[in-house]
Amino acid sequence: MDLQLTIDERHGLTAQLYRQLRAAIVEGRLAAGQRLPSTRDLASQLAVSRKTTLEVYEQLEAEGFVVGRGARGSFVGQDLASSAGRSPVSIDIVPASLWRSVPDALAMPRPGAGLRADFRGGVVDRRIIDFAAWRRAVAHAMRKQAHMPGNYRDPGGEQELRLAISRYVGMQRAVACQWNDVLVTAGAQQALDLIARVMVEPGDTVAVEDPGYPPARAAMRALGAHVVPVPVDAQGMIVDAIPAQARVIYVTPSHQFPLGMPMSLERRVALVEAAARRGAVVIEDDYDGEFRFDGRPVESLKSLDHAGVVIYVGSFSKTMFPDLRMGYAIPPPSLMPVLLKARQLGDWHGCTLTQLALGHFMLEGDFGRHLRRAQRIYARRRETLLGWIQGPLAAWMEAAPSSAGIHITALLRGIGEADTVARAATHGIGLHGITPFYEGSPGPAGLLFGYAAVDVDDINASMSALVSELGS
Ligand SMILES: Cc1ncc(COP(=O)(O)O)c(C=O)c1O
Repeated sequence: MDLQLTIDERHGLTAQLYRQLRAAIVEGRLAAGQRLPSTRDLASQLAVSRKTTLEVYEQLEAEGFVVGRGARGSFVGQDLASSAGRSPVSIDIVPASLWRSVPDALAMPRPGAGLRADFRGGVVDRRIIDFAAWRRAVAHAMRKQAHMPGNYRDPGGEQELRLAISRYVGMQRAVACQWNDVLVTAGAQQALDLIARVMVEPGDTVAVEDPGYPPARAAMRALGAHVVPVPVDAQGMIVDAIPAQARVIYVTPSHQFPLGMPMSLERRVALVEAAARRGAVVIEDDYDGEFRFDGRPVESLKSLDHAGVVIYVGSFSKTMFPDLRMGYAIPPPSLMPVLLKARQLGDWHGCTLTQLALGHFMLEGDFGRHLRRAQRIYARRRETLLGWIQGPLAAWMEAAPSSAGIHITALLRGIGEADTVARAATHGIGLHGITPFYEGSPGPAGLLFGYAAVDVDDINASMSALVSELGS
């Protein structure tokens, strides 16, 4: 019998023995039907207690790997006969071909280790969050959970959170809705995925801004959409260039990703009309529109939607932090039932603890306080950075106009994107180009400066170094 069992350490004996015997059976070294040594013999052979070998045999028997035949002994299960003796070479399982069009690493910059200042997008300053208040909210949620019935919950999300979101978007974004118009999701990304699931049949056309947000394109492609990049100009997506057969149109009207300009009112009105004519839905991804700096507040596209075609998508990744994985969708009422079904089929309803905590955090006013504080801090960082771009750096770049969000994009003049990124890196400065966000024809070279997590002092020091480098 090819049964080499070794006991390496004197603790965890049962687990060691179980793993080795199971592996011997699964790999076919112990053939189906073969008799195992008695628990007494094996115990004395390995110098372990009989209790240990008995427990291991019982476990293997419960799982069907071993069959006990009373006084005749224990045998390797017959059901395993077909797997015994199989080839040890593993084969490549081929996933559905649609996934070939989804990039391995989505074109989002990776965290830069060891940089003195990293201006990558999509990052917030976690240090400014009041974690004492967040802890209180989580403790409240745990107390509440203790009294909840032991069953599944509403796929739309916890009512407190939906209520808090409905009040918040009503006040901040002029989106008029009730609590049950809100579908809580695991970040904006899950909202995009759910919308794609319920709207896209393989081959359907989805229009996306170009340049645009790669994870949105990928979510649509993964479900078989024919994704058509539509160019943007200073007013946002060029509505006349949207294909006639588009079923879904994805836009970032408050703060075009990645260029930054808001969509003009004229375009917003034209977009809603164009969608209504086609029977298409418009996804309004309002990922960081709550941070507004100069000028008139940019209202949501949803607030202009008289036709019932706009799905408003929000995220807590910028207003709280991205790993919270909290977001929401406010669809037209006609789409809510199918979105609820899709959410339920995916993960039923997500984590109630986080939802209850966030709802409490919002309803208690802690979220509002945090946003006001973050807005003040981010405004100073933004002004500082803009001062550099519009001042000492103006010979090499020009900031694209924007009035919201936590990144600024600057278009380059006379210098190359990759070269500038590489030269900045020699000074420990993480800069990030916008070329990866283009899908159709390549656009002008530029840099996306995510400034939310970089202190004013670090902005000054790194931009000063960049000016010296570019001027050398
Ligand atoms: C355009 C855009 N949409 C959405 C998000 C946020 O997505 P999520 O809520 O899934 O973190 C981001 C984050 O960087 C973004 O840039």
